[in-house]
Amino acid sequence: MKIQIINGPNLNLLGKREPTIYGNNSFESYLELLRAQYPQIEISYFQSNIEGEMINKIHEVGFDYDGIIMNAGAYTHTSIALHDAIKSVTTPVIEVHISNVHARESFRHVSMISAACKGIIIGFGLDSYRLAVESFLQPIK
Ligand code: DQA
Repeated sequence: MKIQIINGPNLNLLGKREPTIYGNNSFESYLELLRAQYPQIEISYFQSNIEGEMINKIHEVGFDYDGIIMNAGAYTHTSIALHDAIKSVTTPVIEVHISNVHARESFRHVSMISAACKGIIIGFGLDSYRLAVESFLQPIK
């Protein structure tokens, strides 16, 4: 199984950026733990502060990978282009957020991408990414 994680703007600063909201861990150190927990899954990671680069990555993996886990950062609330990119590919996309955006400013309550995604995981800290990985594994029948 191949899963692509895509992180958007300012998420390269996890660990340094507003730690009371986003925690003290860098994404790179979290990713090591995530990969160790799922050695059977190939987990690729891409981060960009540039909307078009995120779209290019969705196009690149979106007909080949089994899943995309995307934290679009602030582009979540603005980007119809990301919505269209998610709709354009066949790989299912899970929208994740570290913080509970619904408990924050009202401009974070709207997502332009949710309707294009398979599902949404919000507010569990970095564990949101693990929960998203779990969603691609075998469900209870
Ligand atoms: C975020 C929430 C967004 O509103 C914010 O712009 C981010 C991070 C989160 O993971 O909680 O950059 O996506």
